[in-house]
Amino acid sequence: MLIDLSWSLVLSAIIGTYLNESTICIFWNDKFEFHLLHKSDYISFVGINIKSFDDNRGQYIVDKRLKEKDIQNKNLFLDDLVIKIIISIEVTHCETFVVFDKDIDRFVNAFTKASVYSIWRSLHNKFVFAHIAYELPESHHHFFEDQPNILFVVRDHSSASSFDIKTNKFVGRKEEKPSQMILVDRYLALEQRFQFGISLFADKLNNMQGREVIIAGFDYPPYTVIKHNMSTNAQDMGVSEDSDFKNVYIDGTETRIILNFCEKFNCTIQIDSSLLRFKGRQHNN
Ligand SMILES: *[C@@H]1O[C@H](CO)[C@@H](O)[C@H](O)[C@H]1NC(C)=O
Ligand SMILES: *[C@@H]1O[C@H](CO)[C@@H](O)[C@H](O)[C@H]1NC(C)=O
Ligand SMILES: *[C@@H]1O[C@H](CO)[C@@H](O)[C@H](O)[C@H]1NC(C)=O
Repeated sequence: MLIDLSWSLVLSAIIGTYLNESTICIFWNDKFEFHLLHKSDYISFVGINIKSFDDNRGQYIVDKRLKEKDIQNKNLFLDDLVIKIIISIEVTHCETFVVFDKDIDRFVNAFTKASVYSIWRSLHNKFVFAHIAYELPESHHHFFEDQPNILFVVRDHSSASSFDIKTNKFVGRKEEKPSQMILVDRYLALEQRFQFGISLFADKLNNMQGREVIIAGFDYPPYTVIKHNMSTNAQDMGVSEDSDFKNVYIDGTETRIILNFCEKFNCTIQIDSSLLRFKGRQHNN
């Protein structure tokens, strides 16, 4: 029997090198012949089959009724997939996710909800999304702008043995489209090697290349101070583009933290003073 090994080769190479540090959740997809090579060599992984949820055959490691009850008590309506991801995150501390093809869209929506409602949340999530070239429309979900560690593994349509490895830009200003995908490397399955051999999960948070960080802006000395008509170190997104109040100078004990942060990690600060007007009214009461 000749089974197609390329998916197993490329994904095992990536998982072994970059994801073998915490629990991996793999969303199996019947259309992709993928096996973890040297299965016993990985720290821990959990397999999830989305299709079996739809058929109501899903298996839970823990009793999901407890969680369902908990969620119902909070008047939340979450589907099975979201609940499954919440349980996986809470129970196994799953930090990395491998998802295929059409499941990616569903996963992204479900994960975004799950990470809001789970009691434990990782700051080191990594995502590997696998599909075949041209078979998936590009998604514009804010997830692709918010998460720094996303990898797309895209199988070449014609040769089927070469895989483009792309990542979301993440850094840079909004107008430079931080959610766009850029090619990092290529995996050549016949030779079982990466073409360039560079790190696939570069640390993007270290230099955010001017990416905007928006904070609520209100004058509340000594914690936050906002001045106009001075040298400027931030822009106010809560006023119109041509307003005299657009350029602001911010300071204060709390603001210092974010100023230092952006100095270190090269981000741009924006404030939003539309919250200020709301707060102002409250103070007058
Ligand atoms: C994954 O990590 C474990 C424990 O550190 C190690 O024994 C194993 O060799 C690693 N597996 C791979 C594929 O690198
Ligand atoms: C910081 O980001 C800007 C883009 O906003 C870039 O031109 C500059 O080179 C970056 N600084 C460092 C030290 O990398
Ligand atoms: C800045 O100064 C000018 C001239 O003194 C004044 O007309 C304007 O209202 C001031 N703007 C702000 C935001 O205080």
